[in-house]
Amino acid sequence: MTSTALQGISRLVTNDPTRGAGLLGVVEDAAVVIEGSTVSWVGPRSELGPADQLVDLGGRCVLPGWVDSHSHLVFAGDRSAEFGARMAGAPYAAGGIMATVGPTRAATDEELLARVQRLLAEMIAGGTTCVETKTGYGLDLVTEVRSARIARAAGVDEVTFLGAHLLPPEFAGDADGYIDLVCGRMLAGVLPEVSWIDVFCESGAFDEDQSRRVLEAGRAAGLGLRVHGNQLGTGPGVALAVELGAASVDHCTYLSPQDIDALAASTTVATLLPACDLSTRQAAAPGRALVDAGATVALAANCNPGSSYTTSMSLVVALAVLQCRMTVAEAVWSATAGGAAALGRTDVGRIVAGARADLHVLDAPAEDYLAYRVGVPLTHAVWKAGTRY
Ligand code: NIG
Repeated sequence: MTSTALQGISRLVTNDPTRGAGLLGVVEDAAVVIEGSTVSWVGPRSELGPADQLVDLGGRCVLPGWVDSHSHLVFAGDRSAEFGARMAGAPYAAGGIMATVGPTRAATDEELLARVQRLLAEMIAGGTTCVETKTGYGLDLVTEVRSARIARAAGVDEVTFLGAHLLPPEFAGDADGYIDLVCGRMLAGVLPEVSWIDVFCESGAFDEDQSRRVLEAGRAAGLGLRVHGNQLGTGPGVALAVELGAASVDHCTYLSPQDIDALAASTTVATLLPACDLSTRQAAAPGRALVDAGATVALAANCNPGSSYTTSMSLVVALAVLQCRMTVAEAVWSATAGGAAALGRTDVGRIVAGARADLHVLDAPAEDYLAYRVGVPLTHAVWKAGTRY
């Protein structure tokens, strides 16, 4: 197998504190060897052995590729008018999801697939190499199953069933009937394509009992659990996620002190979505308090047409620093290793021998530039599973 050595790395963020300094395990003046789709060696350039090919990165900083553990890429249509109304003072509400359901149901598989592929290309161009995405804009049996198949066919790394995103109008006044469908035929239909189940546990979407039914049905079917919770106000989402041992509870914008303590004492990752909070004019999520309490925090872009139409994880990291008051090291860790933890993966989110060769080369000498030069596109090159993009 051909080996490619990358050298001329000013700072290599390994996320392996046994390899280098600090939380990020930084190795200075480093080299990395890629063989096939994996990293085969990491260390100081002075110890680099012979390799078939040599790439000099000119003194740039290298990070693990971003792990974006929360997105909604399978949709059709556009909600720029809703965004404009919001900027003129209208509040964001869960019900906006329905504006995307009609166009998604009406779109062909080819149209939906093309959109997912476009967004994935945008993500990789910005340094994102591992992506989770959800169904949830179909809300009927046929479109939820199509959405799951399309996400899988597009090559998304992790696919999540979010049939319980909102109550569709056909079931108005019969939420329990809809939950029966989600936990029954819909779950059975999507099962071959998905590894996770999620529920929007929020006022205006599903309550605690309904959310519990969805999560328990998913768990009984062998799926991992994720929860949308505490996005628009405090509520039961975080406590339910922790109680059921969910891998992740996402949004976490409005947390009580008890929620923070519960997350800190649990294995549930608190996934923050700062670009969503920005775009919906919510408060900044309590990143500092979560980290100080000892919770595991992930950061994700939440790309979707309503609350956060961005794929930029570099922006997310800058916002986590500037608005959620995390340090750059904490934010970079949360957008790489934290995302991997939220997805239960050990092969991504770090640069160590044996990991998938997912690397993000910044056109900057250090990771601090992500927040210091906020808004400036700093991605110089990306390797995903050993292939350069
Ligand atoms: O994570 N909160 C629920 N779901 C999406 C928003 C979906 C939409 O507004 O279309 C989210 O923000």
